[in-house]
Amino acid sequence: MSENPYPTWIEINLSRIENNTRTVLKNTGVDVMAVVKTNAYGHGAVETSKAVLRAGAKMLAVVRLSELMELRQAGITAPVMIFGGAMASEVDQAIAQTAVLPVYDAELAKIWSDRALALGRRLPVHLKIDTGMGRFGVFPEQALDFARFIGTLEGLEIEGVMSHLAGVGDYGPINSQTQLQRFKGVVDTLAAAGIRPRWRHLASSSAILYEPDSYFNLVRAGGVLYGLGDASDPQGVMLPGLSRSFCWKAQFVSIKRFPEGWTVGYDSTYTTHKDEIIGVLNVGHGDGYLRIPGGSVLVEGRRCPIVGKICMDQMMVSLPHEYPLGTEAVLIGEQGDAVIPPQELARRWASATTFVTNVNRRIPRVYLRD
Ligand SMILES: Cc1ncc(COP(=O)(O)O)c(C=O)c1O
Repeated sequence: MSENPYPTWIEINLSRIENNTRTVLKNTGVDVMAVVKTNAYGHGAVETSKAVLRAGAKMLAVVRLSELMELRQAGITAPVMIFGGAMASEVDQAIAQTAVLPVYDAELAKIWSDRALALGRRLPVHLKIDTGMGRFGVFPEQALDFARFIGTLEGLEIEGVMSHLAGVGDYGPINSQTQLQRFKGVVDTLAAAGIRPRWRHLASSSAILYEPDSYFNLVRAGGVLYGLGDASDPQGVMLPGLSRSFCWKAQFVSIKRFPEGWTVGYDSTYTTHKDEIIGVLNVGHGDGYLRIPGGSVLVEGRRCPIVGKICMDQMMVSLPHEYPLGTEAVLIGEQGDAVIPPQELARRWASATTFVTNVNRRIPRVYLRD
């Protein structure tokens, strides 16, 4: 019987995250802001942040103040951008925790500046430009006036200018080149007016992989650091120098032989064949493994189908023969030469990163090094 204390766990390979960070630094030739939002895409914010900083990332990024607090409480002192900005009610704490904020709204900027001055501090901000993402940011033609206004606010320090791509290549009426040209236009207009922020950044993972002219002097790397692969490649082929860092495992807690015609799971959607061996894993949709039919797990390097509806805390797997209790199954990741790549689940679950970010925090992360 297995000595492993966990019914299900996720192995995170920190050496690989470090190598991926070094690869991005080397391939782009510019500095890296490591995106560790959403619990570092499920990898664990604190350990991941330490790994990427060890490997040379200059800055971190999260989306909420609470995520920044977690990093600070763990003793991480590196600069951290909060992508989501700060509401008026949060700004004192954001300043106290030395956040870096994207600035996109004049009224909010004035509040931030007043609060920073009241606290005797200057708050570093990056001008956020909407070049086509249609989310945060001022439109390119407003950028110069906005930058000049921000420049009058004594509590703020313009440290950067940034925008975000809606994709790479063509995506409907615009494409990444359109956005890139709009962003270049803003950077040049600001420079001509004497505004040259230290950081200029546009690229996230897909642009890091495919749009070398989008690097400016900083890239914001999320998925690539975790080895999530080329999100647009259905096979999840890894690019040279990048490797997967996430392996979700579980051990069988029940294995039994069924008679023909027995039903399995809620709503009895599966019926066994003669002498079918069904194993139970203590992991389910409550852990973040979505209840979408057609999935499989790896057992001793073989694909075994998940049968019946996935329960909140269990799933049933049809096995080719009996195994000892405690036998390991891989839900996502590698087992010997076999692999269930993130892209496979991404296709079924509709997003390249859904599977990692959805994995419940109740599942222990076990950190490994090569
Ligand atoms: C503003 C911004 N930059 C960078 C990223 C990182 O994206 P990716 O994981 O594709 O590298 C995100 C993620 O959503 C983002 O919102």
